[in-house]
Amino acid sequence: MSTHDDPRHLPTSAAPGSATGTAPSQAGALEERFTDPGLPAHVHRTTDTDPKAAARAERQISMLFALSLVGTVIFVVGYFAFGLPKGENYRWSTLTLGGGMALALFTIGAGAIQWAKKLMPDEELVEKRKPVRSSDEDRQEIARILTEGGEEAGFLPRRKMIWASMTGAMGAAGLMAVVPLKDLWTRDKGESPEKQISHTLWGKGTRLAADPTGQPIKPSDVKIGGVMHVLPAVYKAGESLPGNEGRPELDVSLNDRAKAAVLVMRLAPGEYEVEKGREGWDYDGIFAYSKICTHVGCPVGLYEQTTHHLLCPCHQSTFDATRHCKVIFGPAARPLPQLAITVDADGYLVAQGDFHEPVGPSFWERG
Ligand code: FES
Repeated sequence: MSTHDDPRHLPTSAAPGSATGTAPSQAGALEERFTDPGLPAHVHRTTDTDPKAAARAERQISMLFALSLVGTVIFVVGYFAFGLPKGENYRWSTLTLGGGMALALFTIGAGAIQWAKKLMPDEELVEKRKPVRSSDEDRQEIARILTEGGEEAGFLPRRKMIWASMTGAMGAAGLMAVVPLKDLWTRDKGESPEKQISHTLWGKGTRLAADPTGQPIKPSDVKIGGVMHVLPAVYKAGESLPGNEGRPELDVSLNDRAKAAVLVMRLAPGEYEVEKGREGWDYDGIFAYSKICTHVGCPVGLYEQTTHHLLCPCHQSTFDATRHCKVIFGPAARPLPQLAITVDADGYLVAQGDFHEPVGPSFWERG
């Protein structure tokens, strides 16, 4: 039943069984409710009526696609000039790779939107579809409208400048996915991923510095039962902190500093075990362990003073500091790597070298 046949949709004056009827003025008001208001008058865009405006829009859109090409060039040049983000190149690498890719992709999107808004057909067409299959005449008419629309939109080679700049920009943007694949063949074999993740800033004689002050620490700074967050004492050029005079100054990335983060704690004599092969790795009961959880790399930051357990807040892996941070609970697959430490001639705590195993999450090669 259509709405016209449904008594609920009829004006009150026409409803069957109406006892009282309706005043003529009221019936007229109700009738107006059903008047089809139609569509508002169509307002043409300036690009529809002014050929100069259309040409201007075409140039603007082409300019956006040209900017995309510039972004791709920045990405490719940055990739070859600075490589992937690492060490001192971190800032420039992320700037050129990220900025180039953002510019390339954003301008392709902006160009496509401008094209649709300013130059593609802006006509409102109404097609009454009853019965569902259109007549042959209607189908031919639709085919004609679509063909004309395609021509007006520039899908057929009418807007050659947009077409050429867009295909160029999109084709060039594909280079951003392809160019980095060169590493599969040209990567420096001496810099295997395993070596990169195995090495940290720690080296023989690197001082242990409190985080965040950067102040090198002495054994007397670490109290029994206490824990300190520590980073390697390598400083940005120009910084000069007490205890660091005359030491080599390095400008290192935050990434490398974070990878070298260490927890230092002091245990009372008799509270800890030293396993064979690790004799002399602690200094007078002061132990240093990587702060990066061996599960998926969260910072292990909670120390239970009474049990000497280190807890990872992410998935509750628990490490026993009295037994070389062996895993006693949780999903971590191996102990926190230990940093062997001693003191230097000035009495500051220093590393004996780098970690003996990779820090961070466990992979197939780390057990
Ligand atoms: S990251 Fe530490 S338990 Fe998951």
